[in-house]
Amino acid sequence: MASEFTIRILNWFATNRRSLPWRDTKDPYAIWLSEIILQQTRIQQGQAYWERFMHRWPSVNDLAAATEDEVLREWQGLGYYSRARNLHTAAQQIVAEGGFPTNLEGLRKLKGVGDYTAAAIASIAFDLPAAVVDGNVFRVLARYFGIDIPINTTEGKKTFTALAQELLPHDQASAFNQAMMDFGAIQCTPQSPNCPSCPLAETCDALHTQRISSLPVKLKKLKIRERRFYYYYIRYTENGTKMTAIRRRPSGDIWEGLWEPLLQEGSSDFPNIQGTFTLLHQGVKHVLTHQIIYADFFVVETTKKPKLNDSFIWIPESDLSHYALPRLVERLIASI
Ligand code: ADE
Repeated sequence: MASEFTIRILNWFATNRRSLPWRDTKDPYAIWLSEIILQQTRIQQGQAYWERFMHRWPSVNDLAAATEDEVLREWQGLGYYSRARNLHTAAQQIVAEGGFPTNLEGLRKLKGVGDYTAAAIASIAFDLPAAVVDGNVFRVLARYFGIDIPINTTEGKKTFTALAQELLPHDQASAFNQAMMDFGAIQCTPQSPNCPSCPLAETCDALHTQRISSLPVKLKKLKIRERRFYYYYIRYTENGTKMTAIRRRPSGDIWEGLWEPLLQEGSSDFPNIQGTFTLLHQGVKHVLTHQIIYADFFVVETTKKPKLNDSFIWIPESDLSHYALPRLVERLIASI
């Protein structure tokens, strides 16, 4: 038994569906082409390209027989040209396999076809019960059911995919999926959705909790900062005792208060120290929550005590274990 949500979405679609040329066919080639074009292009612009492609290459065999250059030239102006190259490669894949794949797994193996596109083709061309989950679907479900799990997390993708699949009427997969997309594009738009005329308004959670503008939730991607550290572990021998210089890391940065050898960040110019430089480690990768550090580690052997600024202290090497060192530094020093 279909849910109230599903019934209302399908009813809305029956009177509001957009008339699009690839909706008048069951040809998987035509439907696949439309989905690839619409991945990153608005319907308005994409439709003209779809018509030109269909006119020039009416079947997947025709497209496969074209050269990549011809396909790229026809694609010109649409952007994201890997779509065109993948389209051409996939056409040849399809021909080589003797025809269009007719199930999800087969579709998924086509170059350029991900979960979304596979589900779209499977449902629209083959009436298979596979729910599509795109930006429109996330938005409609997040608002109607009041779900604030971020959509760009593993949990979010799982939750919304399962919910869309549960709501999908198996005998009307094609209509339901396209209804969700059109409803999201026309009625439940990102900004100022048309709630006053919405057939789902009565039972829409976001509308009743004033969360239309805050749903769906999307986590901001934190920028990962990459840093290059050049460490110089100075070994100065004095009266037979091996001494080394360390300093405490300042506040306001990672590893505050921990100790480390001479560090130059960002520049690989050697420091002005007389001695023998030996590179012990190069490009050691150290991953922190919001940073990745790539570290080089030199040992500088000298018998002349280098002048360092006042923040450094000289200690016998054997005392190093009494100082708290960052794990990266500990790893680097361990090999001396
Ligand atoms: N956007 C991408 N594919 C679509 C489809 N089949 N219907 C409506 N909008 C879409």
